[in-house]
Amino acid sequence: MKPKLLITRKVFPEVIEALSGCFEIDHNINDDAWTPEELRRRASVCRALYVVASDRVDAALLEACPELVMIATGSVGYNHIDLDACNARGVLVTNTPDVLTEATADMAWTLLMAAARRVSESERWLRAGQWGRWAWDQFLGADVHGSTLGILGMGRIGSAIARRGMGFSMRVIYCNRSEAPGAAALGAARVGFDDLLAQADHLVLVLPYSTATHHIIGERELGLMKPTASLINIARGGIVDDAALAAALRGHRIAAAGLDVYENEPALNPSLLEAPNIVLTPHIGSATRSSRLGMAMLAARNLLAVEAGEPPVTPLNAAVLKAPR
Ligand code: DGY
Repeated sequence: MKPKLLITRKVFPEVIEALSGCFEIDHNINDDAWTPEELRRRASVCRALYVVASDRVDAALLEACPELVMIATGSVGYNHIDLDACNARGVLVTNTPDVLTEATADMAWTLLMAAARRVSESERWLRAGQWGRWAWDQFLGADVHGSTLGILGMGRIGSAIARRGMGFSMRVIYCNRSEAPGAAALGAARVGFDDLLAQADHLVLVLPYSTATHHIIGERELGLMKPTASLINIARGGIVDDAALAAALRGHRIAAAGLDVYENEPALNPSLLEAPNIVLTPHIGSATRSSRLGMAMLAARNLLAVEAGEPPVTPLNAAVLKAPR
């Protein structure tokens, strides 16, 4: 009998093709997510789960799954999975780093350029039929070339964003707990948190979400930024206090924002919808076909490797493989 695998979202046919020889698959082929109860009921008989970033995998879910040995998430971020609880139960977790790095860096730049040059705001105005004449001061934005790019969280994606900044002759600064390998080669200088906020013309958030980074950008931090600055979040909702950001935009304490992630997504704080000069996208940072297919297939390769008794390709807690279950 094949081991049971639960796939919580409709996924590319290539993935099903790759996995169906090895697993008996329960696949959610609807676009709607299962309720937590439904997810728990279906997962309870499975040996492996194939989840996405919006599936919450907590201790209660794990408790309901006595046969579970592995969770493959189709995301690089894993704050939706209680890793400590997985470690305690000996459940292996894998994620999908690298394959989405360049596409996500492109998206950060898409939001940065659109926010700085007021693309969404001016398009809304044009579509509303308000363009009656050309004017010198219409939709004046901020320069991107030659400005200072700030990166909070200089990992793989942060470095790819910084590398693009070189092409725009930018000064690149970043804040990390330690020196980022390769940052010097990109001409990126490490600075303190408050200096990053105060000096960046365009500040991009690329750090993982955790209790330590919850609302790391709030009223105080927005107050330290330049009134001409833009803030870009492609990391995770909850890193930014969305209500404080909307208030800062309304009060012209910063000039612009570009967000791909939100505190309670897919629900949005309504104040964001009304804020001036904000570009909003629905968590599509990695959404190019090649990047998403790369993520989906990497999650599948992790499952296949473990099932074949081989080491997983991109484990988050490989130590559980050595511990007795
Ligand atoms: C990730 O990989 O973490 C992206 O946010 C997609 O969920």
